[in-house]
Amino acid sequence: MCGIIGITGRDDALEHIMAGLGRLEYRGYDSAGVVIANSSASGMDDGQLDIVKRAGKLANLAGALQGGSLTGRTGIGHTRWATHGAPNDVNAHPHTDPSGRVAVVHNGIIENYQALKAGLSEREYASATDTEVVAHLVAEELDRVDGGDLLEAVRRVVGRLEGAFSLCFVTLDAPDTIVVAKREAPLIVAHADGVGYCASDVAALIAHTKQVSALHDDQLARITPDGVEVIGLDGSPAEAHSYEVSWDLAAAEKQGYDHFMLKEIHEQPQAVLDTLRDRLTDGKLHLDELRTDEHELGRIDKVFIVACGTSLHSGMVGKLAIEHWAGVPVEVEVASEFRYRDPILNPHTLVIAISQSGETSDTIAAATHAQDQRAPVLAIVNVVGSTLARQADGVLYTHAGPEVAVASTKAFTTQIVGCLLVGLYLAQVRHAMYASEAEDTLRRLQQLPGALEKVLELDGQIRDLADRYKDVHYTMFIGRHTGLPIAYEGALKLKEISYLHAEAFPAGEMKHGPIALIEEGSLVVALAPEGHVFSKMVSNIQEVKARGASVIAIGTEGSTAALAEHADHILTIPEASHELASPVLSVVPLQLLAYHVAVALGKDVDQPRNLAKTVTVE
Ligand code: F6R
Repeated sequence: MCGIIGITGRDDALEHIMAGLGRLEYRGYDSAGVVIANSSASGMDDGQLDIVKRAGKLANLAGALQGGSLTGRTGIGHTRWATHGAPNDVNAHPHTDPSGRVAVVHNGIIENYQALKAGLSEREYASATDTEVVAHLVAEELDRVDGGDLLEAVRRVVGRLEGAFSLCFVTLDAPDTIVVAKREAPLIVAHADGVGYCASDVAALIAHTKQVSALHDDQLARITPDGVEVIGLDGSPAEAHSYEVSWDLAAAEKQGYDHFMLKEIHEQPQAVLDTLRDRLTDGKLHLDELRTDEHELGRIDKVFIVACGTSLHSGMVGKLAIEHWAGVPVEVEVASEFRYRDPILNPHTLVIAISQSGETSDTIAAATHAQDQRAPVLAIVNVVGSTLARQADGVLYTHAGPEVAVASTKAFTTQIVGCLLVGLYLAQVRHAMYASEAEDTLRRLQQLPGALEKVLELDGQIRDLADRYKDVHYTMFIGRHTGLPIAYEGALKLKEISYLHAEAFPAGEMKHGPIALIEEGSLVVALAPEGHVFSKMVSNIQEVKARGASVIAIGTEGSTAALAEHADHILTIPEASHELASPVLSVVPLQLLAYHVAVALGKDVDQPRNLAKTVTVE
């Protein structure tokens, strides 16, 4: 999705804006642009808003800026993920009013932009975007506002906007000022050492400060080299949510790996360790950050898990764990569907919303829908201080650190661990498990980081398999029980970064239709770790093998003999110390397979086509 960075109060503003945009690249984008408020050096004239923007990668923008003379202490940069209008130079942000007095960049969608245009006198628009009209409106409002105050002009306009957006403005009238506004799309502001900042994501600012404030919905801010002033939509002073970012610049860099995705796959032992750390006190599981009353959780009689994409797959494992340990019925639902039907919700329904970013608009909307009906929402989130983390009644942070690659890996394994912790915790507060049993299970989960290290040793073997099968036209992933969510996740990983056709099915469903797809040359990846459905999986592997498929099986140390008879290749993972934890291990070979296939095919692994890291629009 789009990215924003604004800086005011530095002579080298442009250089730092470009560096900040570089750190936002991972979000996915198709054009980029900058504006620098170039106040006249002589003071004899009004100066100008210098704008350069280009379709394509940031390198195109950098090329266009080379040798230029964009100087000024205040500026904004933007990476655009097209929604309204093609991804070309003209539609790239920033946009201005016709006189070039106000420039704006925008993340999100202005839903009523057509109506707003109709309300203005007949005029020409340079672009096909929903954003440009906002610059026109603010420029008009500036004429009406006392002293041409940009914050007040923006406040008046934002009150008329519908949709989800974060907006960032500069004007020639006050060249050392940036004004921002936020509704349902993340925006943070900061001030450090005489410089004011704003950004859509802390990654853009981490080189400058760790002390940031996230604006709440319908808040605006005036950012100058002297500080940050936050107001509400009614104009009264307001407080943003201030916090310290817990990771540093090194965590947001590749550190010698070819791609962020590979680095993040290899960070999983540490990420899982960090997510499990300090959960046990006096033999009892403690989830201190949960903020939710133990007794309230004890009375829960139904759980919904809502999430999107990879996070949804972790929720499928969560369902198995919660039902098994806590004995509460769980439904897992795609967040984008949840609010458009009538789920039966009441104060005894717990809604667990899972999200790496905490900014996915569908997941946030599902959580809001639940809260509107007084159902408590527990968020399992990676990004501290994100919208979902703040909105939820309780939060469990996964401590995966920043995830930069679009394809989620370490967030996924830590989300599963988060779900296992919630399952054990619910079992404990509902007295569905002996305390000693919960403690023992938690202690056994501590073996996961070591086991993950061993799984990562499969890398070379998987790279060879990727070379061998990279041209296969169709790959089917099959699994049962804990293997099924991992089959879905394996197929998603492969298609999103290699663009190969991949699908996943419950292995038991094969005979009801999907097996018709299997022919000579198909590839089947079968999740067959040790567990109570192992022998069923062996039968399913025989069925696809008999119809000409090549089979890669994921099996567990000590139980691969039966697989060896039928599978072409076995990727052997260590025993998981608990069957419900096996997905944390079994997904890793599939992440590596997707990674190596994409590399072998020469794809853009970290920023696959058409995808964005954080989906802040519906
Ligand atoms: C796939 C992937 C996406 C996200 C989904 C939800 O690799 O990353 O499917 O899982 O967009 O994002 P979050 O977890 O940020 O809500």
